Amino acid sequence: MENFNLMKESIIKKDYNIILIGFMGTGKTTVAECLSEMLQKKRVDTDNLIVKSEGMSINDIFKKYGEEYFRNCESRILAEIRSQNGLIVSCGGGAVLRDENIQLLKMNGKVVLLTAAPETIYKRLEKNKDRPLLSNNTNAEFIAGLMEKRTDKYVKAADIVINTDSKTVLEICDELIVKLAALD
Ligand code: S3P
Repeated sequence: MENFNLMKESIIKKDYNIILIGFMGTGKTTVAECLSEMLQKKRVDTDNLIVKSEGMSINDIFKKYGEEYFRNCESRILAEIRSQNGLIVSCGGGAVLRDENIQLLKMNGKVVLLTAAPETIYKRLEKNKDRPLLSNNTNAEFIAGLMEKRTDKYVKAADIVINTDSKTVLEICDELIVKLAALD
């Protein structure tokens, strides 16, 4: 425990951003909330920042302007985040789709990939209507297919990988802190 507290203190002192990436429903926002409390660092969520700056929901942005427009908003927000330090950042699941996004984030950030099995994601998102890419497609097979297409990009971007299947948020945050400390 004492050892863990030392690791936590060492991470608190760092001024890099901690960037959470991963497929929809892997728990990026929930983990960011918990981590932000544990490490006393400010938290930002790229989807929230996009919603605020565009004045409409993610669903409406996709419907009105399409995915490419949303991706441009996402790249702009990530570039803004890159100029700040000491943040916990939860990214939208597609933030890794453009290589330049990841290059930017890695300049002053440690990238943490959260993973989960397609069945877990299906259970977590089954009743959720906020993911335009999953509307009409909320089933484990579709999720597995989209995840498969993205896996390379997620893994390439990651400094740390944490599987979240059947773990509590606290367990995930503890593991994250231990793994971050080990990067030094
Ligand atoms: C997306 C994930 C969503 C959101 C948008 C697109 C994706 O964020 O950015 O619906 O392409 O995977 P979450 O990962 O927070 O659900």
